[in-house]
Formats: sequence, structure tokens, C-alpha cells
Amino acid sequence: MILSVDARPYTDQTLGTSGLRKPVPHIMQPHYVELFMQSVFDVVDVAGATLVLGGDGRFFNDRAIQTILKMAVANRVSHVVVGRGGLLSTPAASALIRARKAKAGIILSASHNPGGPDGDFGIKINAAHGGPIPVSVSDAIHQRSRTCDRYQILAGDDFSLAEEGRRHVEGCLVEVVDSVRDYVGLMETLFDFDRIGDLFRSGFTMRFDAMNAVTGPYATELFHRRLGLPEASLMNQVPKPDFGGLHPDPNPHHAAALVDMVAGRSEVDFGAASDGDGDRNLIVGRGLVVSPSDSLAVIAANARLVPGYRQGLAGVARSMPTSRALDRVAASLGIPAHVTPTGWKYFANLLEAGLITICGEESAGTGSDHVREKDGLWAVMMWLAILAERRLSVADILADHWRTYGRDYYQRLDFEEVDAGAAEELMDSLRRRLPTLAGTRAGAFEVVEAGDFAYTDPVDGSVATKQGVQIISGDARIIYRLSGTGTRGATLRVYLERFEPSAERHHLPTSEALAAVRDTAMAMAEVTRFTGRTTASVVS
Ligand code: G1P
Ligand code: ZN
Repeated sequence: MILSVDARPYTDQTLGTSGLRKPVPHIMQPHYVELFMQSVFDVVDVAGATLVLGGDGRFFNDRAIQTILKMAVANRVSHVVVGRGGLLSTPAASALIRARKAKAGIILSASHNPGGPDGDFGIKINAAHGGPIPVSVSDAIHQRSRTCDRYQILAGDDFSLAEEGRRHVEGCLVEVVDSVRDYVGLMETLFDFDRIGDLFRSGFTMRFDAMNAVTGPYATELFHRRLGLPEASLMNQVPKPDFGGLHPDPNPHHAAALVDMVAGRSEVDFGAASDGDGDRNLIVGRGLVVSPSDSLAVIAANARLVPGYRQGLAGVARSMPTSRALDRVAASLGIPAHVTPTGWKYFANLLEAGLITICGEESAGTGSDHVREKDGLWAVMMWLAILAERRLSVADILADHWRTYGRDYYQRLDFEEVDAGAAEELMDSLRRRLPTLAGTRAGAFEVVEAGDFAYTDPVDGSVATKQGVQIISGDARIIYRLSGTGTRGATLRVYLERFEPSAERHHLPTSEALAAVRDTAMAMAEVTRFTGRTTASVVS
């Protein structure tokens, strides 16, 4: 029986950089998920369509999946493809949307944010191409949610999602699938598994940290069963609703145990980790952590060594705050390098139009045209494939890369949970001063260019403005922007970068290499005056 339920609309169902994201107690308010999903179903117009549904397994994933399934049936969706156990990594969901020609995908995740009753929950909506919906659609969903005061839902028992299978309910086919098999199959079309297996057989050692999140089952199948990595080389590979109390963000701060083992004590050749929903990655070698911007540049520079990319790259793209290391590789390959606002949706359009093959962000997201999302395990596979071909250490691959292209020292400072009003004022104040900043000096930093990044999408013509303030001084660059994924107060991100052409100066600690740029960045935006902070909450 299908019920129609009346409820009072919520007005705060805005979609940020990657969908709706809220603290768990907030999202568990009466009818909150239901009204949001009804708005999604109304805007996307799902009657008769195929949908893909799954999540990263965090607390409330199981409840939300049942609600959304029952609403999908009530909204006359004809086919729902749902991950076994309610699980789907973000890249696997993207692959499934494309393979099944679904009209949309619904991914339950707050990415790398903590889970559990006091953690965060999120709902991401993906388009038929497999990538995040464009801003026009997320705006329309928010608009609809402001007045949506009734939703349709199937009454009755929960669906069993424990095993693969198909069931018809009220004209809807509910199909439970094991996405691990499909995903590993996709990897097989891109990589030479024997060659990577040879690397492991040669004595090369690795640790992969799934951070108690969704990639555990994928990593177990891929690295252990298919490539022969000993099971003991996998860490935290069983997904847990609260991620075992860990913060599933693959950066040196939150993946400290892995980083200490590989980079600190040099006990293993190669370390990697992925985040809550499996789209981000961390790459670590003996003695060093690879910065995501460098990782992207190395992957692009070496892509032709990998079977799936042997024909070369159509082009590459990075988000504006990502270091310019990628641009140097593109220039040497003679291919276009696009610069987009932060967020994967902009890449999705470029990938879809065939303008780029590989893209990535400083925030540890790297991907290619095999799906329309960033893909953590894919990035790890790219590194493994490159290591298997070149048989050099991670440190030597980087040193060689910097010798060839120069080194872009890079660091991101996050000032978390600052007062939202103060953060806005800081940005407004910077924006007001932009016209007068060019030509000014702050120590060794002479401002050559100062602007607020705007982007016109070459594919759909949409315009995005106010995407971050960029201050450039020849070799150095400072960027300020406010996060669009935080759930508490505001997060100010300050990105620092400096190009160093000379190989003699490629071995400085990053914070030392960027000390002057950091001082300038703190002073220029008066970070302490506006936020009361003298140091960042997280440095990555
Ligand atoms: C953050 C990252 C951004 C990424 C997004 C979703 O967004 O900085 O690169 O696309 O998460 O994973 P932000 O919080 O900066 O808006
Ligand atoms: Zn993520």
C-alpha cells in the first residue's frame, strides 16, 4: 500500500560541494530525509526510470536506504539497483549508473567526515552520466524542498539486502547487486593484473588502510584475492557504521598509523588509504607522503605506461586550488590543461565531452574517464602500475619528476569551525581590496595578479563565480576559499604554493619551503583578526 504523508517543509536542505550533508541528529529529524528525497524525485522525475542506490555504510545508512527504497517504489521508479548490504563506494556507484543506464544515482555518504550517532550523514545525487548533478539541478532540488510538504512511501516490511537477488514490488524491480565484482572487472579493463602481481611477487611490500569504511571489500577482492597481496597487508578492511571511531579522511593527520609505518619508520615500500566512500586516496612511500597535487602530476606524466591509457591523454584538468604541477606536465605532453572550480561536477562535464582523460584535486581526489567520480582505488592502482613498470621507489619517482618539471611545494591550511559571519567578512574584505592588491609587496611576495576565480563551463556554458580568491606572485600563489562541505560553522581554507625549479632545493621540508608564503597569507587576509586563530586546525 502506498501512503501519502503530509509534513512541514524544512528550509535548510541546501546542496553544497557534494550534496546534502548534515550532522546525524539533524538528518534524523522527523520526515527530514523523506521530504528531501521527495524533492529529488520530483525534480529528477523518476517515474519509469532506473535508479542506483547505495552508501558508505555509515550510521543511519541502513535506515535511510529502506526509506529511500520504499519512496522509490511509491514514486513509480521502475528499477532500483541497490548495493548488497546497502553498500556502494562512490566510484562503484558511478560505474553502475553508467553500466545500467540509470537516470540517477543516490549515494548515502558524508565522504571523509566522521560517522556514528554524533557524526555526519549525507545524500549525494548523481546524474545519468555517473557524476555529480550540475548546480542547476541541485538548486532546483533546494527550491523544491522549500515548499515540498507531502511525500509518497510504500507501507510495509523492510527489504532484505543481505544477498544478491531480484524482487518485484508494486511494479518496481528491486535488484540487489554485488558491486565489487563489477568494479574489479572495470579495473581489469585498464590495468595489467599480472604485471602488478609480479611486483608483489618480487618482494615489494604494501599496506592499504580502508579506514573501516567502504573500500574494505573492494580492496580485499582487488589487492588480496586478485593481485596476491597478503591479507595481513590490509588494515581496517571491515566497514563499520562508526568507522571504528576513526575519522575516515586519508590525510597524514587521520591516517597517522599508516603514515608512521611507511613514511616515518620506512617499514614498507608503499602505503595507501581511501576515505569513507572510497573516492579519495592517500599515497605514501618510504620516508615520504606524496602530496595529492604531485600524485596527480605523476599519474598524468606516466599514464602511457598503463594499458588503459597507452593511447595518450586527450587533456587533463585540475581544480583551481590544486598546484600547477599538472600544468607543467600537460605543457610538456602538448595537451590542454583545464582549470575548474572545486568539486567533481565540473570535471564530469569535461570527461563526458571527451576533453580530458585524467583530472584531480588537491584534496586527494584523482580520477579518469573510466567513471565520472574521483576514484581512490583507481589512483592506488595507477601508482602500482607505474611502480610495476618503472621499478623505482616512490621517492625516486618523485625526485625524477621534480628534476624534470621542477617542484611545486604545496600546503593547505584549514581553519575549521570558525564563526560563519567572521569567515564571510574575511572573504568580503579580501574581495573589496582585490583591485588595489596587484602591484603591492609583502616581503618577498609581489602581487602580480589578484582575482576572484570565475569559470565558464565549456560544455554547458554555465557560469560559476566567487570560487575562491587567488593571489599570484610569479612563482608563488595563495588561495582563500570557504568550504562547501562543512557541517559546523565555517571552514576557511588557505592554499599555499611555491615553484622551485632547482633540484638542489627540492628536499626542503614543505613547511620550511613555504614559511614566507604562509606568513604573507596570514597577514594579507588578516586571518587572526577575523577568526581569532593563529594556527590552522589541520595542515595537509
Ligand atoms: C572538499 C574538497 C574538494 C572536494 C569536496 C568533495 O570541498 O576541498 O576538493 O571536491 O570536498 O569531496 P570543500 O569542503 O573544500 O568545499
Ligand atoms: Zn569521499
